[in-house]
Amino acid sequence: MQGMSSLQALRDALEQSPNNLSLLLLFGHASLEQLHLEDARESFERVLELDPGHGDAQLGMAKVLLLQGEISGAAVRAERVLQMHPQDAQAHLLLSRVFLAENDRSKALEHFERAAQIDATLSDPALEKELGLTMRDARRASPVPTPEAPPAEAFEEGEPQPEFADDPFDEPPFDWRPETFYPPGDPARSGVTFADVGGMEELKEEIRLKISYPLQYPDLYKAYGRRTGGGILIYGPPGCGKTLMLRAVAGEVPCNYLSVGLHEIFDPYIGSTERNLHQIFETARANAPCVLVFDDLDSLAQDRRHVRESQLRNLVNQFLHELDGMRGENNRVLVIGATNQPWALDPAFRRPGRFDQAVFVPPPDDAARELIIQLLARDKPISNLDASALVAATPGFSGADLKFVFDRAAEMTLSAAIHSGHPAPVNMETLLAVARSHTPSTHAWFEGAREHAQHAAPDTYAHEVRKFLSLGAPTPPQQREP
Ligand SMILES: Nc1ncnc2c1ncn2[C@@H]1O[C@H](COP(=O)(O)OP(=O)(O)OP(=O)(O)O)[C@@H](O)[C@H]1O
Ligand SMILES: [Mg+2]
Repeated sequence: MQGMSSLQALRDALEQSPNNLSLLLLFGHASLEQLHLEDARESFERVLELDPGHGDAQLGMAKVLLLQGEISGAAVRAERVLQMHPQDAQAHLLLSRVFLAENDRSKALEHFERAAQIDATLSDPALEKELGLTMRDARRASPVPTPEAPPAEAFEEGEPQPEFADDPFDEPPFDWRPETFYPPGDPARSGVTFADVGGMEELKEEIRLKISYPLQYPDLYKAYGRRTGGGILIYGPPGCGKTLMLRAVAGEVPCNYLSVGLHEIFDPYIGSTERNLHQIFETARANAPCVLVFDDLDSLAQDRRHVRESQLRNLVNQFLHELDGMRGENNRVLVIGATNQPWALDPAFRRPGRFDQAVFVPPPDDAARELIIQLLARDKPISNLDASALVAATPGFSGADLKFVFDRAAEMTLSAAIHSGHPAPVNMETLLAVARSHTPSTHAWFEGAREHAQHAAPDTYAHEVRKFLSLGAPTPPQQREP
């Protein structure tokens, strides 16, 4: 058979140049045609490793997944392609098949019609037969792309809750997309990088070790039996750069980035929240390698004992279930959660193994404050900046406190300029005066933490906070002159 011999030829060529994108694609499609699904999957995966946003490889992968019965994985990939290329007829055809497999005939027809309208040369006899509609007729039909409201869930509050099976959501909501999914090179992606974050060197290295280096040196990681991804929990007082750090990860890591906001999870329909969360993890897995980021994790992962509403309890259970599912060798997803209330998290989240690393982000030390001050002063009209004098005047200040000092000083200088009619740069006296009159916002946090650490079970977070407290870093709030 001709296909077989050309497959062998491609295989031989690939042995010579295993990273040749065009060859990999050809081989992937040829294998798919011969229904050598594992070979096809492997080569599309390889292409996506080399170029995670590659539409053709995404589609090829989606076809393989569909044939292997991984319907939601196929859907996620086809949707991804449509996000980048809404006019991709092949992706619409594929989604039509996906919905057919899901017994959603009307959605299947909708995508079939769209495909037909986009590309007049398309034909797909098998699909036409199943839908009972020819492409030609579909072209004449008018498109009706109206997303429906998600269905209300089967179980109500107060009823006994079902245990979570491996995949409890047989009908993922395909209309729903996390809004903050960014492939590499997406112009909307954060341009902040690690260089914009002062301090936190250990955390930066931890993130590189779990996701950047494995992508850079896959063979080395394989040789040492280390896997890509995992989980990191970042905690510490407010304003010390946790959110900034999460944004910097987007600018830093060379892979897909998915950041999750609460509004993307909470849904007025009971039960949909778990489904949304599940869908988010599915999206991350289907687009691996990927970083999945949850800021302000505490609002999502509250201690189940203190949560009355069964909806939130279910969400916590679902979250734990998803994290447990991430341990496999092939889950090349790095989950990073951040919180300033580690004690409010369900203890299950802090147990070793859920997040394999809990990293305490303390208020910046002298060196880190100096860096932050330099960053804040960049591109601002400031005369004779004396960073070390400012460092000395700001012990216990968070990055946000330092930012406040700069903003307030600029405001005062501006106000003076308006009244005097003489614009002048911000000077050191103003900066120092603002710093001296400001009480660092981290003090209150440490008082709360001290309280919680005394009563908490001896787990990682309490230990770290105690260690920091025993070093005597934050001085108690002093009476400061206004
Ligand atoms: N390490 C840092 N390097 C540079 N800027 C910083 C740093 N820490 C804080 N900042 C500045 O302070 C602002 C607030 O920090 P950020 O929002 O990241 O704090 P957070 O730790 O997420 O606080 P919260 O716990 O309240 O969410 C940042 O946008 C940045 O301008
Ligand atoms: Mg934050």
